[in-house]
Amino acid sequence: MNKRRVAVLISGNGSNLQALIDAASDAGYPAQVVLVISNKAEAYGLIRAKNAAIPTCTINHKDYSSREEFDKQVHAKLLEYGVEIVCLAGFMRLLSPWFVGIWRGKMLNIHPSLLPDFKGANAVRDALAAGVKETGCSVHLVTEEMDEGEIIAQARVPVFPDDTPEKLHNRIHKQEHLLYPQAVKLLINKNNN
Ligand code: GRF
Repeated sequence: MNKRRVAVLISGNGSNLQALIDAASDAGYPAQVVLVISNKAEAYGLIRAKNAAIPTCTINHKDYSSREEFDKQVHAKLLEYGVEIVCLAGFMRLLSPWFVGIWRGKMLNIHPSLLPDFKGANAVRDALAAGVKETGCSVHLVTEEMDEGEIIAQARVPVFPDDTPEKLHNRIHKQEHLLYPQAVKLLINKNNN
């Protein structure tokens, strides 16, 4: 099978990266993770990638004078590895319109809410503070606006009365780990049609 070449961009723990690596280990899964890029050298996801013998690269945004200069380095790496699909997974940097334009339709992000509700960096806390009975997670195509773009897949997660942000985020994470591999597959099927 001709697997699609996926790069995962991370800044931290990388549990969603792990879910993608695990899914891709199935011979019948249509994608393989060929590169992991982090903007933080200490990101635990880099260890996950090394454990899976996947090439890694740290590109520290602080070494670049502008967002676009940083993005050019990322793009150069993606080209070097023949990447076809980019997955943002806990990647805590906004990408420039230039980069988003190049990867339009081929770049996904995972967000811990049922978009369009609770965009932004505090989605789990915001859902809890709003008193909703249900939240979830979304995988969407990346556009210039944060947490916008066509939704490819969503999963629902109940909110319980005794939830803390940590408890709720853990419950959301479990669904994210199922959802992200499914969404990558859906995108590949969508782009093949
Ligand atoms: C996930 O909850 C994701 O929705 C958000 O950042 C978190 C990343 O978690 N964008 P991990 O690094 O994949 O464990």
